[in-house]
Amino acid sequence: MLRENPVVAIIMGSQSDWNIMQHAQATLDDLKIPSNAFVMSAHRTPERLSEFVTSAKTNGFKVIIAGAGMAAALPGAAAALTPLPVLGVPMEGKIAGGLDALLSMTQMPAGVPVGTLAVGRSGAVNAALLATSILALSNSDISDSLDKFRKNQTDSVRETPGDEN
Ligand code: RP5
Repeated sequence: MLRENPVVAIIMGSQSDWNIMQHAQATLDDLKIPSNAFVMSAHRTPERLSEFVTSAKTNGFKVIIAGAGMAAALPGAAAALTPLPVLGVPMEGKIAGGLDALLSMTQMPAGVPVGTLAVGRSGAVNAALLATSILALSNSDISDSLDKFRKNQTDSVRETPGDEN
């Protein structure tokens, strides 16, 4: 479902990444940050990627979250095409639990940064929270939402461990 006036773009290299990347959108939804998600691949659909990313800023996006696995070129290729902040989420793959994508994504040459998060769901959630922190710098409503989110999170941590049910 496409949201109106999205400020965060969630892009991913394959439909197979959505299972993890949906956590980025769910977190943004919780914080009332409009985002839209798209599949585009640096290798399989380079024109789609280029078209989307080169117009992302003029189309109102302020942050791009990019999830990819294996060679994981998507965030780096996106960062090469836009001045917007690009946050990368490595997917768990079949080699060393996603270490391939993590190293590929994090080892950007000086001059073209990708803010790389943790592998998998934690990275997807944290990419959304980091995008929110960036947006909060210039928007006090978002800043308040983020403060509330963090307070709720702190309040939900029990002091002593126990059974889940
Ligand atoms: C990457 O290759 C994608 O980001 C995905 O994580 C991985 C495998 O893609 P599929 O073969 O599942 O489409 O480009």
